[in-house]
Amino acid sequence: MPPPIVATIAEVRAAVAEARRAGKKVGLVPTMGALHAGHASLVRTARMKTDFAIVTIFVNPTQFGPNEDYNRYPRTLEADRDLVGAVGADLIFAPLPAEIYPDGHRTFVEVTELGDHLCGASRPGHFRGVATVVLKLFNIVQPDVAFFGQKDAQQAAIIQQMTRDLDVPIRVEIVPTVREPDGLAMSSRNRYLDPTQRRHATVLFRALEKVKSQVAAGERDVAKLEAIISQEVASTPGARLDYARIVDGVTLQPINTLQRPALAALAVFFGTTRLIDNVTLSP
Ligand code: PAJ
Repeated sequence: MPPPIVATIAEVRAAVAEARRAGKKVGLVPTMGALHAGHASLVRTARMKTDFAIVTIFVNPTQFGPNEDYNRYPRTLEADRDLVGAVGADLIFAPLPAEIYPDGHRTFVEVTELGDHLCGASRPGHFRGVATVVLKLFNIVQPDVAFFGQKDAQQAAIIQQMTRDLDVPIRVEIVPTVREPDGLAMSSRNRYLDPTQRRHATVLFRALEKVKSQVAAGERDVAKLEAIISQEVASTPGARLDYARIVDGVTLQPINTLQRPALAALAVFFGTTRLIDNVTLSP
């Protein structure tokens, strides 16, 4: 059964209060909609680990740059409601921008350093917008547990850091990346790809797999490993590398040699569509 959709902070708070009165543990899955199997996995995990799963659907204007896809970002509320219903969430919170950012909004959350490189370098202000809306959603819903995807590894690390730094009494859980059968990480932006771009988009997964196998074979030199990714992308028609980086798995800071678990992450443009992916490397 499709769950109810509410659009105001007052309604979502009333629903949470009722769930709490019934002794239920509350789970939150923040999304921007255009839902796919990756989101469904988060919702399923929330259902498993809590008693009242809330999915928020909000295309957050403050995390889009002036030349990014805020206006054309897919908005598919009817289909989203069906998917969320099929997975069995209890409530959808889908506010309008003015509910979240009424006139006079002045406060933003900034997690220093973690947001400066990788995706932050090509999307200035992006993670400030993400941290701000996520803290607002945390304060609006006040869940026990919130669920995020490993697909957006930098976002996940920033949210975990923010939660620690600001003493937010919410447990943050990271859910593994869900992929298409050919390895492409599921993303709401995959639908922008034409059939040729879609075929070539497997380069992100392929490059990361190649790096993983080189690490398994003993390679520890980060520059060499990053070069494998760049070469793989350079030899793919229509693909333009934004970045390929191997960084410390916890601090996301640059490293020269693999000694501890690290994150291999890349971003690739196909036309104006920007895709990201990552894997953990364990030397
Ligand atoms: P969105 O891109 O809609 O993603 C919502 C959540 O789904 C994020 O936690 C993301 O990491 C996760 N996700 C996306 N694709 C996934 C996949 N293939 N496998 C597993 N999880 C996946 O990320 C955002 O929205 C926004 O920045 C948000 C956190 C909602 C703040 O506006």
